[in-house]
Amino acid sequence: ADPDPLQDFCVADLNASISVNGFPCKPLPKVKSDDFFFNGLSKEGNTTNVFGTNVTSADARAFPGLNTLGLSINRVDFAPGGLNPPHIHPRASETSVVIEGKLLAGFVTTGNVLHSKVLKAGEMFVIPRGLVHFQLNVGKGKALFLAAFNSQNPGIVLLPPTLFLSTPSIPNDVLTKAFQIDEKGVTNGFPLRLKVE
Ligand code: GLV
Ligand code: MN
Repeated sequence: ADPDPLQDFCVADLNASISVNGFPCKPLPKVKSDDFFFNGLSKEGNTTNVFGTNVTSADARAFPGLNTLGLSINRVDFAPGGLNPPHIHPRASETSVVIEGKLLAGFVTTGNVLHSKVLKAGEMFVIPRGLVHFQLNVGKGKALFLAAFNSQNPGIVLLPPTLFLSTPSIPNDVLTKAFQIDEKGVTNGFPLRLKVE
């Protein structure tokens, strides 16, 4: 989904003082093989949070060699019962492969149809760009998958914190009417229990 590159590569200079769409390029003489290498997905993420999941992102900010190349990967770890809550990637489709465990993966179309599958190691699923989707660990132990995106910066809109933990808050009248819940549901319930990290 990203624009085509205009050169072989453009290793991101994360500290540049100018601001462009993506990141400016590190000067060519400074580029090393290490700029095309990233080991940040080799470690298991910490899943001790309310959702029991952890997303480790190899996007262009984490892995500057991806800048302008239109792709990135996430590692998602699940504790038993862990949920990657409903979310959207505004700038990419996603295809994932399960490495370990058993996951229920699903997305909902703009016509309100749920498509879902239970996946085990080696099996893949695809999430069309911009659609709400989730993954739930339905196996006995931990689970792990890798998700590839056709953007260097797919972005993530996690619906629970987006709606209930924004700064400033969305007015209660909006949330109570939208979700048909009472004021308590908004102020005393969900937000206090939810600590994403
Ligand atoms: C999974 O859906 C992810 O976005 O990492
Ligand atoms: Mn996703």
